[in-house]
Amino acid sequence: MRILITGATSGIGRQLALDYHRDNHQVWALGRNQKALDELSAEGLQAVRLDLEDRDMARDWFTTMTPIDLAILNAGSCEYVDLPQFDSELVSRVMRTNVESMAVSIEGVLPLLRQGERPHLVAVGSSAAYLPLSRAEAYGASKAAIEYMIRTLRIDIYREKIDVSLVCPGFVKTPLTDRNEFSMPFRLSVEEASDRIRRGIEKRRLEIHFPKRFTFILKALSLIPEALWIRISQRMVNNER
Ligand SMILES: NC(=O)c1ccc[n+]([C@@H]2O[C@H](COP(=O)([O-])OP(=O)(O)OC[C@H]3O[C@@H](n4cnc5c(N)ncnc54)[C@H](OP(=O)(O)O)[C@@H]3O)[C@@H](O)[C@H]2O)c1
Repeated sequence: MRILITGATSGIGRQLALDYHRDNHQVWALGRNQKALDELSAEGLQAVRLDLEDRDMARDWFTTMTPIDLAILNAGSCEYVDLPQFDSELVSRVMRTNVESMAVSIEGVLPLLRQGERPHLVAVGSSAAYLPLSRAEAYGASKAAIEYMIRTLRIDIYREKIDVSLVCPGFVKTPLTDRNEFSMPFRLSVEEASDRIRRGIEKRRLEIHFPKRFTFILKALSLIPEALWIRISQRMVNNER
């Protein structure tokens, strides 16, 4: 397969890129960190420096790109809101990196997928979008926006026979979560995350969520009355203090 992966210089994206390359797929690994790109290049991957927040540069690059069969749109960042200061700039930053970069990536890869074989678009969201989580006003909202965008896109490109999957991980040990000071139940390694994502992609699942023992709990909690969830969240927040 010809595979394009955004956010391939670190964490989950990097592991996916290396694993697909090891399995003899042709991988374009996108990111900004030059040192990480050089390392991927030394491994034999096509490493491409691209800031997805620079729409003009990204558009230009995508027009030079050849057809692909699988796009994994994974680039993202996480910042938490710390009240009493509700920082609107933080919200804009997270929306730019997660939502706008996703839109720029979709715009870029759709024409490439249309020329591919059994094309598949995979977007990385988060299980954080399942229900309101403390301090995730920006991150959770960005992932909820991605979920909506992807589920809607799936309807609109259905006739084109482009499969669309949404990945909703629980906690995975990466530089993104290494910054967290709270407990992260059932946190997986990047190797485990990559295995689960690649298996889900192979089965062309609409939603690839893991670890199930964590994501099913979140899904169940999303069904309880909001007032009860607020009380449970309060207790969780107090326990972390
Ligand atoms: N780790 C988790 O527990 C977890 C859970 C749920 C969802 N996720 C999602 O999984 C994805 C990967 O997360 P991760 O944990 O692997 O994070 P990570 O290790 O911090 O990697 C993030 C990647 O995104 C790239 N990126 C960020 N902004 C970019 C931009 N403007 N242009 C191009 N690339 C950009 C980074 O590239 P550079 O470093 O080169 O800038 C890096 O390769 C994210 O979408 C995240 O929200 C992660």
